[in-house]
Amino acid sequence: MNNIERLSGLVVTISGGCGDIGQATARRLTREGAKVVLLDRAAKDNLAEDLSNNGQVAYLYCDVIDRASVDAALAKIVETHGRLDVAIANAGMVANEKFLELDPENLRRTMEVNFFGAFHLAQAAARLMVTQTMSERGVRGKVLFTGSWVQDMPFPQGTSYIASKAALRMMAMVMAQELASDGVLVNTMAPGIVYAGLSKKLHDADPAFRDRVAAAIPLNEMQTAESVADAYAFLCSGDSDYMTGASLLVDGGATLVKRS
Ligand SMILES: NC(=O)c1ccc[n+]([C@@H]2O[C@H](COP(=O)([O-])OP(=O)(O)OC[C@H]3O[C@@H](n4cnc5c(N)ncnc54)[C@H](O)[C@@H]3O)[C@@H](O)[C@H]2O)c1
Repeated sequence: MNNIERLSGLVVTISGGCGDIGQATARRLTREGAKVVLLDRAAKDNLAEDLSNNGQVAYLYCDVIDRASVDAALAKIVETHGRLDVAIANAGMVANEKFLELDPENLRRTMEVNFFGAFHLAQAAARLMVTQTMSERGVRGKVLFTGSWVQDMPFPQGTSYIASKAALRMMAMVMAQELASDGVLVNTMAPGIVYAGLSKKLHDADPAFRDRVAAAIPLNEMQTAESVADAYAFLCSGDSDYMTGASLLVDGGATLVKRS
């Protein structure tokens, strides 16, 4: 629990905001004083009650693969709040398939949501941020991406998802390089295997799944969405103002590959 209001006054938007990581992040950021606008193509009634009744949280319909929808959502945020300090490109999907059976349509859909969707939000947000006033510390805005521990390592049946997250990571670095002198900081947050989204569904449908996954993680348990939110609170805050082009890996050691 952190009660320091280090995000006081910041306006943050999160795509895929109705998902588990989006909601946990909204909870954490508002606790530290931020105003959060959740973007999702899923309906608002997917939000937990504490968030739908939280005056610091708003919801806007947005399909990130539709650029007009992204532009309209950002225009609404600026109309309401006057600026956008942080954009978190977090909307995502996964379709695991063996390579020999991989349906190219699933590869295309995954790239469309995870990569092109993140691109649309990132570019629209960055175009807006470069026009904003700079803080005393030289920051005009921050663009953050939800990557994954697999963005740098292969995992069986993960071609579509992993390729999309690896592409995202490289886009973030190029963006960071180009936009550093404009005061727009760009970083990736790379979680491990989170008890959220698809992993949560797999776990809940198959109790052995959690044990198998935990056995693969040096810290012995699946990650919580709250742990991802902790990392996002840091990346949104002034504590990370000297970071750009980085990937913050918070994965319980999953990338170390557990050896017993
Ligand atoms: N759950 C994990 O183990 C894990 C691990 C590492 C990274 N991630 C990443 O975290 C992010 C959030 O995932 P989650 O675990 O909260 O899953 P989730 O399924 O709970 O949330 C994903 C959200 O994205 C939304 N979304 C999908 N397509 C969209 C679109 N075109 N436009 C707008 N919204 C769209 C969905 O409606 C959903 O609300 C994803 O990018 C995922 O790849 C998840």
